[in-house]
Parts: sequence; C-alpha cells; structure tokens
Amino acid sequence: MIATTPYQSKDLATMYFTVATILFGAQLLMGLVGAIQFLYPEFLFEIFDFSVARTVHINALVVWMLYAMIGSVYFLLPDETGIETIGVGLGKLGFYVLTVAITIVVLVYVFIQIGPAEESTIWLINEGREYLEAPRWADIGIVLVVLIFVYNVYATAIKGKRTGIVTVLMADLLALAGIYLAGMFFVDNVSVDQFWWWWVIHLWVEATWEVFVGGLAAYGLIRILGASRQVVEMWLWVEVAMLFGSGILGLGHHYFWIGTPEYWWEIGALFSALEPLPLVAMFVHVIYDWGKQSGIKGSKTINNSPAFAWFVMNAFGNFLGAGIWGFFHTLPQVNIYTHGTQFTNAHGHLAFFGAYATILIGMFYLNVQSKNGIERMRSTFNSKMAITFISLGVMGMTIALTIAGYGQVLVERAQMGATWDAFFISQQAQWFVQGMGWRLAMGVVTIIGFVYLVIDLLSISKINHKT
Ligand code: HEM
Ligand code: HEM
Ligand SMILES: [Fe+2]
Repeated sequence: MIATTPYQSKDLATMYFTVATILFGAQLLMGLVGAIQFLYPEFLFEIFDFSVARTVHINALVVWMLYAMIGSVYFLLPDETGIETIGVGLGKLGFYVLTVAITIVVLVYVFIQIGPAEESTIWLINEGREYLEAPRWADIGIVLVVLIFVYNVYATAIKGKRTGIVTVLMADLLALAGIYLAGMFFVDNVSVDQFWWWWVIHLWVEATWEVFVGGLAAYGLIRILGASRQVVEMWLWVEVAMLFGSGILGLGHHYFWIGTPEYWWEIGALFSALEPLPLVAMFVHVIYDWGKQSGIKGSKTINNSPAFAWFVMNAFGNFLGAGIWGFFHTLPQVNIYTHGTQFTNAHGHLAFFGAYATILIGMFYLNVQSKNGIERMRSTFNSKMAITFISLGVMGMTIALTIAGYGQVLVERAQMGATWDAFFISQQAQWFVQGMGWRLAMGVVTIIGFVYLVIDLLSISKINHKT
C-alpha cells in the first residue's frame, strides 16, 4: 500500500513528472513532423526543417527521460530512506533553472535553424552531437543542476536508511552524471570526437540507465506486489555486475567503422553479443518474482494495475528492443550491411520505448496514486486504451522500420555496393516507401495512445477509485 505522505520530495517528483509528460508530447509531435517529411519532403520546408524536427525529437526524448528519472528518485527516496529528502528547496531551484534553460535551448533551435558552424555556435546554439545537441552554456547549467540532485540523494541516503536499492542508485547516479562530462568537450578530429561521444550515449543507455531501471523495477515490485526485498535486491546486485561488465566493453559495437583500431571488431562483437544476457536475467527475474508473488496471494495483491501493466511491458520491451533488436545488428559481419539504415532506427525506437518509456510511465502512475491517496488503483478504460495504442503504435513503427531497413540492406548495400547513388535509389524502392507510410500511420496510433494517457493521468482522483 502506498499511503498519502506529506513528503515534499513527492511534490517535487510531481513537478518533474509533469514536465516529463509535456516533453514526451513534444517529442511525439516532432516525430510526426519528421515522419511526414520522409514522405513529403516539401512539408514545412525552410519553415521547420527535418534537421530541426529530428533534433528536437531525440533531445526531447533524452530530456523527458532524465526528468522522469529524477522525478522517480525524488518519489522513491522518502520510502526507501524513511526520511524527508534533504535539500528539497535546492531541488526546486534546480528544477526551475533546468526548465528555463531547456525552453531557451528549444526556442533557439526553432528560430535559428541554419547558420555557420563556428566556435560561438557550440557555445550558444548547437553543439552538433546527436542526442546531446544542447549548446555548452546549457551543458554547464545542466551539470550544476545535476550536482544539486546528486548532493540531495547522497545527503539523504547518508542520514536515512540505506537499502540495497538506494546504494545501487547512489553508485549509478554518480556514474551517470560523470559520463555526461565526456560529451562536453569538442575534439577537431571527428573519429576522436565520436569515440568520446559514444561514452555518453552507449554507457548511458546500455549501462547506467539499465542499472537505474533495475533499481526502479525492484522498487516497483516491492510497492506494487509487496515482493520480498531480499529476493529482488539479490537479483539487482547480480544484474548490476553483469550489466556493467557487458555494457562497458560492449561499447565496441560503435567503434567498428569510425576509424578506431581494428581490435574493436573482436571486443565489440564478443561483449556486445553478451549484452542480452543480463536483459534475459532481468526478464526472468521479474516474471519469476511476479509469478511467485501473485501465485501466493492472488491478483488482489496488485495495488496499482496500470503501473503493473507498464512494468510488465517494460520486462518484455527491454528484452525485445534492446536484447533482440540490438543483437540483430551487433556483430560486425552483420553491422557492415545494416549500419546506419532504418534497422538502426527500428532498434532505437523499440529499445528506448521498451526499456525506458514503459517503466517511467509506470512511475507516473505510482505518483498519481500516491498524490491522490488511492489505496488500490484499478485500470480504467482510458488507461487500457493508452497502453494498447502506445504499445501497438511503437511496435508497428518498429516493424515498418525493420522492413524499410531490410529493403535498404538488400538494394543499397548488397546489390548496389553502398554508393552515394545507391543510397537514394534504395529510398525510392517500394518496400522503403511503404515502410515509411506505415511508420507514419503507426506514429499517429502512438499519438492517440498518448492523448488517452494524459486524459487518464489527469482524471484519476480518489473519488473514482473507491475500493
Ligand atoms: C535500452 C538499451 C538500448 C537503447 C536505448 C539503444 C538505443 C540505440 C540507438 C538510439 C542507436 C542509434 C544510435 C545512432 O543514432 O547512431 C543504437 C545503435 C546500436 N545499438 Fe543499441 N540500444 C540499446 C541496447 C543495445 C544492445 C543491448 C545492443 C546489442 C546487443 C545494441 C546494439 C546496437 C548497435 C550494434 C548499434 C549500432 C547500429 C549501427 O551501426 O547503425 N543496443 N542503439
Ligand atoms: C509519433 C510517434 C513517432 C514518430 C512518428 C517518430 C518518428 C521519427 C523520425 C522521423 C525519426 C528520424 C529518423 C531518421 O533520421 O531516419 C525518429 C528518430 C528517432 N526516434 Fe522517433 N518517432 C516517434 C516516437 C518515438 C518514440 C516513442 C521513441 C522512443 C521512446 C522514439 C525514439 C527515436 C529515436 C531514438 C530516434 C533516433 C534513431 C536513430 O537515429 O537511429 N521515437 N523518429
Ligand atoms: Fe551501444
């Protein structure tokens, strides 16, 4: 049971979750613009270019997830440590600074779409690194805000109770924040620059973020089902060891073709191929624990059904999107054909969605439940429509993109030898164009699901959840 608590930390969490949801919506709209432009390149040409839509789409993605992650920590910290979070006031200040900075960054992207690439561009407009395009002034602001956050977590954990989940999060957040620094300096040599850029991107999503999700899953199992802390924390430690092991050297799968030494072929092939193992372990762990718990007490013990549904979706989605779709193209023998095609895009969508969006939406529901003091929260029509449409939409996009990628591999790479002409010819092939059409249609399905999600989150109150 999650009791209504007067903890201010939970109010702060609500603030972060609210902005996360708004940015999630913005992300989807920008994806829609990009998807239309793939089919009708003249759409909004020179008003809102594809490069801007794409930049905002993927940066909003990263930023909403970071907001939701910070919100999740502020949400669970009082439950785990048994005390109010230290530094909530500072945390609020950080929240406002971050939100103002991000608004300015986005407005600059929208109003200054093209221009020269000079030193001042890096500082004021766009740093030019995919997913981390924020200009350097904003980088410095982000680092300050994250330092406040990490300080709050450490101060609270040192004073309060330190559970296994909190201990793992302490180590993980330090690594997560520290790695961001690798993306903050620019090296003229593009190979060297990419080398460091991957530290942020890969070591986030395949190491530190995955461990974070392990912590959230453990917390969620305890809150939603009353799972045994001893069991979930034991698994958590096993996964931490495995994920950090395979995830760190698995970095090699991004070093195949950027000019780094050839020994990365072997290192990348071996360790990245091992990466699905901890994901399988996490999957088995969650399913096993849930089966065991609900088998004993029956389904009555689920005290937040929508959150539970999203957590289940996370176990499947992480395994499918990161594990299976990642493994598809992780051996250099395969990657030489698939590198940078819509295959990559298919994997990117299902992995980010399955591993992160799902569980963070689950946290939105836990937060709404606690805010309204609902003892047992059941699924509503809207919450069922939300999960169905969003998951079907993303899965549909993934399949469409996989087919389009397959077309590219056959026509552009295998048949025509990866020339410049081949790149364009393959994009006019029937399978590719149809794939783009289905991606657009499935994107609209996803957006409909998102609308249901927002309506559901806003309309949940204690009154409509009387048990
Ligand atoms: C939740 C975890 C993961 C997320 C969110 C994720 C996301 C992504 C994204 C967005 C890209 C495209 C990067 C770009 O724009 O260049 C990418 C590339 C790639 N991912 Fe993952 N990934 C995850 C896990 C994995 C795993 C476990 C594997 C392997 C088993 C894997 C294998 C790859 C490979 C080989 C590439 C390079 C594709 C290319 O050469 O074009 N990923 N990933
Ligand atoms: C309305 C639904 C969506 C549409 C229409 C859409 C569309 C797009 C488009 C057009 C691109 C650019 C692809 C390219 O440059 O070839 C893109 C990239 C991307 N999108 Fe989405 N998207 C949607 C939802 C999502 C969701 C829900 C996620 C994850 C949670 C996501 C994650 C990504 C990622 C990681 C990339 C970069 C992939 C890469 O470079 O390989 N998108 N999306
Ligand atoms: Fe990777």
